[in-house]
Amino acid sequence: MQITSHIAQVVRKALDWPVERTAQIEAALTVPPNPALGDVAFPCFQLAKELRSAPGVIAKNLAARIVRDPIILSARAEGPYLNLFLDRANVAEQVLGEIRDHPEGFGRRDLGGGRTLVLDFSAPNIAKPFHFGHLRSTNLGADLARIFTFEGWRVIRKNYIGDWGTQFGFVIWAWQQWGDEAALEARAIDYLVELYIRANRDSEQDPGVREQARSLFLRLEQGDPEIVRLWERFRSLSLEGFHRTYDRLGIEFDSYDGESSLNAKVQPVIARFLKAGVARESLGAIVVDVSDVIGREIAPCMLQKSDGASTYAARDCAEAIDRWERYQFGANVYVVSRQEDHFAQVFAALGKLAVAEQWPVNWPALCENVSFGYVRGMSTRKGEAVWLEAVLDEARDRAARYREERSAGNTRGLPAVPPAELATISEAVGQAALLYFDVSSRRLTDVTFDWDTVLQFEGNTGPYLQYTHARMHGLFRKAVDAGVATTAAAGDLALLVADEEWALVQKLRGFGPAVQRGAEQREPFEVAHYLHDLASVFNAFYNRHVVLDEADPARSRARLELVGRARTALATGLGLLGIRPLEYM
Ligand code: ARG
Repeated sequence: MQITSHIAQVVRKALDWPVERTAQIEAALTVPPNPALGDVAFPCFQLAKELRSAPGVIAKNLAARIVRDPIILSARAEGPYLNLFLDRANVAEQVLGEIRDHPEGFGRRDLGGGRTLVLDFSAPNIAKPFHFGHLRSTNLGADLARIFTFEGWRVIRKNYIGDWGTQFGFVIWAWQQWGDEAALEARAIDYLVELYIRANRDSEQDPGVREQARSLFLRLEQGDPEIVRLWERFRSLSLEGFHRTYDRLGIEFDSYDGESSLNAKVQPVIARFLKAGVARESLGAIVVDVSDVIGREIAPCMLQKSDGASTYAARDCAEAIDRWERYQFGANVYVVSRQEDHFAQVFAALGKLAVAEQWPVNWPALCENVSFGYVRGMSTRKGEAVWLEAVLDEARDRAARYREERSAGNTRGLPAVPPAELATISEAVGQAALLYFDVSSRRLTDVTFDWDTVLQFEGNTGPYLQYTHARMHGLFRKAVDAGVATTAAAGDLALLVADEEWALVQKLRGFGPAVQRGAEQREPFEVAHYLHDLASVFNAFYNRHVVLDEADPARSRARLELVGRARTALATGLGLLGIRPLEYM
């Protein structure tokens, strides 16, 4: 039984509401800040209007109507809140039992119900630097993919590579000027970016360069074999580089088809826009006006430039149509920052086409842009041009150094790290520091990165969570050494009634709702924030109580059970964030 759902049901019955409204109640349940006030609170403000009554009166009436059961001991109105007191032993039994029985999926709500969700993330550009926007998109996207999967969506991971557009004209032009085989072999994408930057710089001096680059890209679009061969080579070299990084992070995609894959599809789509009377010609270009549907002054969605080249927006329109035809998605989500206008234009243009062509499903309404803020202050020894690979190296090396310095002084009773594992651990800690940082605030907040802060084993960091996990693991090793059974029957959970134990059980009850909020708000922060709380509550328990007490084996076993389930929750949550739970640190 999921305790939180059960409580929501009981409140629903007291309200005399239909079953469909249980989820609404469940989402509103909170934990009172002061445990003396109760274990669960249901705020009644939102009901005032509907029930035409003051929140305090509603709370009083509800308290009188709550039916007590083995879980709910009593109910009381506290101002505008309905507060419930729970039976600690029974709740512990249920919560820990659910984690024990479903270690991979406890707390899951099946929000997706098997529907398909297309998730567009990472999407770096070939021959342009893989910058922090892409790192954040990669990380947030991978987290969301795991969170949505956990919540029952069938997720299609799309890496819509930026492998088309006039930038290739520049690179190919530069290659024809200065191309150096040895340099390309040795430095691949770094070299391509250099060529791109150099060509761009030249074009500022000499406008003829831009013209030549344009015409080279046109030849590419028209399929000139010599140019296509070059482009293919650049593309596959770049992809190899991206793959190294994805492998290292353990991230996979279902498709790497990028903008180039729309080459043949984009013209017919533009023709449809024209035929439906949705697009118009404007000074030789083809555009769709969208201010009217978006409801604010915004530039038209440009599908074709006056020189005849198709645009990024036209390709996104064609791509979205293709996704719908392939998947009939329940949602099509783009994890991309600073392109709000672009996506608003594309979705609005598609929405107009939907009306004009009378589509049976208005699927453009299922498309959404999940944006995020900017990261400041991240740079490496190699300078400001930031490459993801270099950042990962730096994180690993710094993690190794930090650990060395620390373990020279103080290892706080953790088991010694087997030397063979040191390298793996440094890599895992370095990644945890980076990846957790990205989700330690809400995605739209601009953040400032600082190496020393993110690597700390204390505070709101990834390594702190790994450290806590290693501490939990250490308890098990000690228990095995001390001969306390860890696998046999859990022991008497009714013994878990101390305040710190109860706080931990209550936290564990919050796992499912936290992941659910993460999915609904497209906000991995919700999971990160929850895990940090969980770790803090665990450490408060750990600092206050002796888990393994030879004089009291029954209590030791019950506490070990609690630690074990907390460890499962922490490991599962870290897994959702792509962070490796560690056994040693
Ligand atoms: N390659 C683009 C960029 O770096 C991001 C692509 C995002 N996805 C999309 N369907 N437009 O800005």
